[in-house]
Amino acid sequence: MTRRFLFVLGSSRRDGNTEALARVAAEQLPDGVEQRWLSLAEHPLPDFEDLRHDSDHVRPEGDNRALLLHATLAATDIVIVSPLYWYSVSAGVKRYLDHWSGWLRTPGVDFKKTLAGRTLWGVTVQAHQEEEVAEPLIGTLNHSAAYMGMLPHCLKGVGGTPIGGVLLGNGSKPGDVLRDSAALARAKTFLTEEPPFARFPYDTEEAAA
Ligand SMILES: Cc1cc2nc3c(=O)[nH]c(=O)nc-3n(C[C@H](O)[C@H](O)[C@H](O)COP(=O)(O)O)c2cc1C
Repeated sequence: MTRRFLFVLGSSRRDGNTEALARVAAEQLPDGVEQRWLSLAEHPLPDFEDLRHDSDHVRPEGDNRALLLHATLAATDIVIVSPLYWYSVSAGVKRYLDHWSGWLRTPGVDFKKTLAGRTLWGVTVQAHQEEEVAEPLIGTLNHSAAYMGMLPHCLKGVGGTPIGGVLLGNGSKPGDVLRDSAALARAKTFLTEEPPFARFPYDTEEAAA
């Protein structure tokens, strides 16, 4: 099957570090792999409304929800490109993930079955030097992938040993990350690696097999 990568850009500014790092990683994808880049700032989603216990969600048509839903369903690989905001994903990315809850319950969409076995990737850049402060973001993506039956892989490239299959870049003002040589080196192979299965922390080896 042709790989189709959807890059979901979650920064609240244009041409930021996170997108720059993701573009370095995407340059390594082979010819024939499709790439689609969608900015949540340019295609903002409305606040998510939880209708789970009131009524069915209706399949969106003709708006940014429909655009993101169709793009997500069409992707074999979803790359969450989010700066580290308050130690987790940006509000735009969080809202996008909240909409997954609605799409899981939208008649005729079969969202969970469609996404199962597809790969969730993460690219993030943080200003903080110590990598471990990104744990909440890493946990959000890992656990979301585990819930969906997807494969997770986040990006961590600030030297040192990758923790739990996750890597990220370092920078504050736009362009900083392009001086993070460890992150750039990691980006060169990131999207071509074989990702491990997502597991919840309480999953055993046997349960995951
Ligand atoms: C609202 C906001 C929250 C942030 N929170 C954190 C944080 O918790 N930890 C951190 O290291 N950097 C934090 N930063 C810094 C950004 O992660 C950093 O500037 C990053 O390079 C921004 O990525 P971008 O250029 O792709 O937008 C924050 C920045 C903003 C605007």
